[in-house]
Formats: sequence, structure tokens, C-alpha cells
Amino acid sequence: MIGRLFSNVSHKVQSLLYRASLMMKPQVVFVLGGPGAGKGTQCTKIVENYSYTHLSAGDLLRAERAREGSQFGQLIASYIKDGKIVPVEITIDLLRKAMEEMMKKDEKMFRFLIDGFPRNEDNLQGWNRVMDGKADVKFVLFFDCAIEVCIDRCLERGKSSGRTDDNRESLEKRIQTYLQSTRPIIEQYEKLGKVRTVDASRSVDEVFAGVKAILDREG
Ligand code: ADP
Ligand code: C5P
Ligand code: MG
Repeated sequence: MIGRLFSNVSHKVQSLLYRASLMMKPQVVFVLGGPGAGKGTQCTKIVENYSYTHLSAGDLLRAERAREGSQFGQLIASYIKDGKIVPVEITIDLLRKAMEEMMKKDEKMFRFLIDGFPRNEDNLQGWNRVMDGKADVKFVLFFDCAIEVCIDRCLERGKSSGRTDDNRESLEKRIQTYLQSTRPIIEQYEKLGKVRTVDASRSVDEVFAGVKAILDREG
């Protein structure tokens, strides 16, 4: 009787271990570029054509800002309007939970496009602290776009986006943050040979042709 009980438990443990071994470590592509470079637009197209989940750090923060009872709503709202980068403890928690939820739902969905992250040194250190060894960063997909084009696209988007930061005043601050805090992160990855650059000033379809060439090559 006790022997049979042990044998049942041991089978369950073995099958759990087997399932865990099948679960892949998340494979991550960081998607970076100036505000309005087209990160979200291209990520949507990637998801339509490849087996990736798109997680936009900005979208996750806006959802948290809107969530009733969130203790961070006010802070997020003021950081976004000022184009500042929210402390990583908040953002990394949202990203980690979103990745875990997706992989719990479908363990085959282990490829992630993490859009708009890491945006500064604090973001990068937070990722390394929390995710080191738990996810593989394959490369950074960098949408290289002239600042003037970025501004025009955001102002155009602002006509209908309802975003609190698609206006000239916030945009000036967002561009400063991009140049001062995000570009150095891209440069760090560049030194590691981990940046794949696409000229994002072109039409949506032309940009996507460049993206496809990279993803098909990288596997
Ligand atoms: P990001 O996520 O980098 O801020 P989005 O993908 O939201 O940028 O694009 C910003 C705005 O520019 C949107 O209104 C989008 O429709 C538009 N857009 C995106 N890519 C292009 C492109 N290649 N050419 C022209 N407009 C674009
Ligand atoms: O990427 P997106 O343009 O949606 O980001 C909007 C804003 O969200 C940023 O300007 C910033 O205030 C905030 N954000 C952040 N940390 C990130 C990504 C976005 O604080 N990693
Ligand atoms: Mg976006």
C-alpha cells in the first residue's frame, strides 16, 4: 500500500520534471528606437508572421496606470507625461508577470519581443538582477530613425492616440531621454555585437522587409 503510494508520487514528480525540462527558457529580442520610430507597428507585423509575443513596456505601464487600485498609477502618469523612465522595479515586475502568464498558457510561446526596454541603465541593471539566467537575450532590434521623423510621427499619432505624451512639450523631454539614456544602452549592446539595425525612416513595408531579413537570418 505504502509502496504503491510512493510509486504514484514518484511518477508524478517525474512527469512534472519532464514537463519542466520541455519548457523553454524565454528567448528575448529587445526592440529599441526613438519615440515614434515604429517599434509597435513593426512588432505587430512580426507577431502576424513569426511565433513571437509582443510585450510593450509602455503599454504595460499604461495598463498599470489605468488599473483600479494600483499603488503606482500616479507615479507612472507623471513619469510618462514628463518622458522620464519609471523605476525598473515596477516595469520588470510587469514584464516578468506577462512572460510567465504567456508561457503558462502556452509553453510553446517562449519567444518575446520586449518593446521599449531597456531604456536606461536602471532598466538594464534591473533586468540583469531579476532575469539573469532566466531568459536569453538574443539581440537588440534597433529601429534607426531621424529625430525629426520621430517627432512628426508622434505628433501625427497624437491627433488620435489620446496619449498624454504625444505633444510637443512631452516629446522634447522624451527625445532628450532617448538621446541621453537609451542611446548609451544601444551602444553597450553594439559593443557586444548584439545590435541588428533597420533603417526605420522608410515606409512600413520597406522597414518590415528589413526586419524579415534579420529574423530569417537569426532563426
Ligand atoms: P513607436 O512604438 O516606436 O513609438 P509606433 O509604431 O506607434 O511607434 O508608430 C508611431 C506612429 O507612426 C504611428 O502613428 C504609426 O502609424 C506611424 N508609423 C509607424 N511606422 C511608420 C512608417 N514606417 N512610416 C510612416 N508612419 C509610420
Ligand atoms: O514605448 P512608449 O513610447 O510607449 O513609452 C512611453 C513612456 O512610457 C516612456 O516615455 C516612459 O515614460 C515610459 N516607459 C518607461 N520605461 C520603459 C518604457 C516606457 O518608463 N522601459
Ligand atoms: Mg510604441
